[in-house]
Amino acid sequence: MTEFQPRVFSGVQPTGNLHLGNYLGAVSRWVPLQDQMPTIFCVVDSHAITASFPNAQELTDATREVTAAYMAAGIDPKKSIIFNQSQVREHAELAWIFNCVARMGWLNRMTQFKEKAGKNKENASVGLFAYPNLMAADILAYRATHVPVGDDQKQHLELTRDIAAKFNNDFAERIKELGIGVPNPTPSPELPEYLYFPMTEPMIAGPATRIMSLRDGTKKMSKSDPSDLSRINLNDDADAISKKIRKAKTDPDALPSEVDGLKDRPEADNLVGIYAALSQSSKEAVLKDFGGQQFSAFKPALSDLAVEKLAPMTDEMRRLTADPTEIDKVLKAGAEQASAIAEPVLKEVRKIIGFLDVR
Ligand code: TRP
Repeated sequence: MTEFQPRVFSGVQPTGNLHLGNYLGAVSRWVPLQDQMPTIFCVVDSHAITASFPNAQELTDATREVTAAYMAAGIDPKKSIIFNQSQVREHAELAWIFNCVARMGWLNRMTQFKEKAGKNKENASVGLFAYPNLMAADILAYRATHVPVGDDQKQHLELTRDIAAKFNNDFAERIKELGIGVPNPTPSPELPEYLYFPMTEPMIAGPATRIMSLRDGTKKMSKSDPSDLSRINLNDDADAISKKIRKAKTDPDALPSEVDGLKDRPEADNLVGIYAALSQSSKEAVLKDFGGQQFSAFKPALSDLAVEKLAPMTDEMRRLTADPTEIDKVLKAGAEQASAIAEPVLKEVRKIIGFLDVR
């Protein structure tokens, strides 16, 4: 190879229901990438057992549901590889090797681990600590060059680059000798002349696409929030959507006419941001239409828009989940395509390391 083949990889965990934040911040942004380069979208079930093992049936169901959500949102199995992580053994194998590349000190800095483990660090699973190494393995088993994620994943992508750089450096001689490296596209003193793993480009969704809780505009919309009113789930029906928007926290003032006026008004900012994202316009444009109006007028408009945009998708999700065999077929074909890429990569990685191959 003379250069890395451009390739997108991303994933969502099958834990609980997908919500509006996952849709607007991630999946909906993946759809146009399918026409730009090869794309792989993974349902990361091996990541879903790191905090604790979910109920087995719920994990199975959630895996199918996330797959249905991908497809209902417009991820097309004819254009993209869609599969669940645990079906492709190479993720686990490469993650083990990366456990031996990444340093304790690097992982000790991960803010997501600190947040998730909380005060009870001694009782967190080793898997939760090593989670970012598995994420690096997901990406690099395909030598993926582009990874679209939300800004909460930025630190994990930096770690992925650190792992790739250390591997490329530690095995530089070997990679060159075996003739399986790719000329470094951006020569620098920090990296050797030939790379085995690409230095993956993050494609980070800016804070504008960060969807916050409907009950607290300073907290991210999250599936783990105990209040269901805090989020719009992708399987909520029209009544639930309008009820949640009607009950969304706001302040007593009218909407401003300029974006500047949203400063220090996190709930107003969030609702305007959701309107802008759903209508594929901007906060400026939304405020041009709604500036000066009260929430009593804005909320019904937002609710109509949300129902209009989400209903076709939720209907399609319901149709797809009603027939698991169809979903399982997509995942099976996807796992085969994914394996066809990852297997030869791991074969080369074993050779680079010097594992004796006798088969
Ligand atoms: N950690 C990501 C999240 O919680 C999910 C994920 C796992 C992922 N592996 C990945 C995202 C690889 C992008 C690429 O959102």
